Amino acid sequence: MRIPFIGGNWKMNLSLDEAVQFVIDIKDKLPDPKNVETALAASPLFLESMLKANGSSPLHVTAENCFYKNEGAYTGEVSPKALSQMGIPYVIVGHSERRRYFNETNDIINKKVHAVLSNGMRPILCCDETMGRLETGDRIHWVVNQVTAGLKGISEKDALKVVIAYEPSWAIGTGHSASTTEAEEGCYLIRQTLADIYSDDVANQIRILYGGSVDPDNIVALMKQIDIDGILAGKSSLKSKEFLELANYQD
Ligand code: G3P
Repeated sequence: MRIPFIGGNWKMNLSLDEAVQFVIDIKDKLPDPKNVETALAASPLFLESMLKANGSSPLHVTAENCFYKNEGAYTGEVSPKALSQMGIPYVIVGHSERRRYFNETNDIINKKVHAVLSNGMRPILCCDETMGRLETGDRIHWVVNQVTAGLKGISEKDALKVVIAYEPSWAIGTGHSASTTEAEEGCYLIRQTLADIYSDDVANQIRILYGGSVDPDNIVALMKQIDIDGILAGKSSLKSKEFLELANYQD
């Protein structure tokens, strides 16, 4: 019922030429989107060229971030309205690197979720647990809080368009993925939170991804978990061969 979602997040990596070549290399080798959806998030500088290279392939060319205002005197920001006009379907919101290095608060992230939805796109809302584990040891509270705050004021209808990514900071870029049990536990916790905010029915329709050192060796075990509907990969999405292995994990 929930179509698996395999996403890559390139962060601030690759060049424009490499990004375009990557799309050309993978676009005819992706799974049928009725079975598995695929997405690659890239710098806003690459998106237009990637869209052109992608043509009608099922790959979702995705943004890594945007601002919460559509236009105005906000030097250097990325307008959600402009992304929508380009034909971008998904935007990552609230990645732990945005929270940590750019001081994005739950309030800012919630505004971004609203802005993405009101421009007809779908947010991939990232939730981590850094502070909970390090400072209070209360990871449950931390994850629940980020989900609840990120979805504040979002209707049931719009919530169904949101994809949530559980990305424990301690597993990001470390080469040490959460165990399948830890990853499932985080995603289960998020689904219970969604059921509390909305209903069991809504919670069972929303896709929840796991991110943090996912690679072709651990994806199959992760994807077998009941509440893990997909993955968001950083490092292992940077090479087309590896990304294709992730996208075609069922083969
Ligand atoms: O958004 C994906 C990400 O933060 C995970 O990165 O390099 O641990 O796969 P990585």
